Amino acid sequence: MEFDLSVINRNNPYNIDIEKFIEQFYGFIQINHLYDSAIREIETKLEIIDNEFQSTFKRNPIHNIQSRLKSPQSIAQKLAKKNIPITAESILSNLHDMAGVRVICHYIDDIYAVANFLSLHDDIQLIKQKDYIKNPKPSGYRSLHLIVTVPVFLSTGKKIVPVEIQIRTMAMDFWASLEHQLHYKQSSKVSDDIAQELRMCAETINDTDIKMQSLYERINKIE
Ligand code: GTP
Ligand code: MG
Repeated sequence: MEFDLSVINRNNPYNIDIEKFIEQFYGFIQINHLYDSAIREIETKLEIIDNEFQSTFKRNPIHNIQSRLKSPQSIAQKLAKKNIPITAESILSNLHDMAGVRVICHYIDDIYAVANFLSLHDDIQLIKQKDYIKNPKPSGYRSLHLIVTVPVFLSTGKKIVPVEIQIRTMAMDFWASLEHQLHYKQSSKVSDDIAQELRMCAETINDTDIKMQSLYERINKIE
């Protein structure tokens, strides 16, 4: 059914371009669908890797997988910061973290194993890798970040979609979720002290991660 836009336009005191609004609105819905599909493709690949690991090595490297689509607020904020108009096209050509998948592993070695197995999929292309485990952020943040592309098959053809994947241990995730809350607080002397303690905590957590890895290997060798 076609709508008579002139009816809407008569009740349009702010003179909004209704046709443009509708076009943009559908553009955003399509983009959401596209990135949501890319997340599902990646999640399925990760689940298959985890299951295969279980049947071959009798254990799961992945503790859990979380995913999110970037919120409208974060999209608007990021594009505005870059001085880019907030449109569906801008999202496609400027944001690499619209689709985000977080993989929580048990041990540090699992992180690299999962990343390696994923990169062996020949429909996955690694665009960028940032190893914040070997080179932690000044905050103390540790994780392995990958930007990959994955094909999504639509009625209009194949679309190559970027997905940001963050891979970390349970301990790194525990730390990051607490530290993340600091960013929402006003910076003050109190948060400087807290940031300093969090940095120390990140070191302790890293030492523990390394010890847990080596204990796991020793236990595993016991007949
Ligand atoms: P963004 O504009 O934030 O996406 O930065 P970027 O493109 O340079 O990516 P970066 O490698 O810095 O990682 C971005 C994401 O990693 C963030 O959205 C957070 O989820 C996570 N992250 C990066 N640094 C920190 C940190 O210091 N603390 C916490 N808690 N998370 C972080
Ligand atoms: Mg981001």
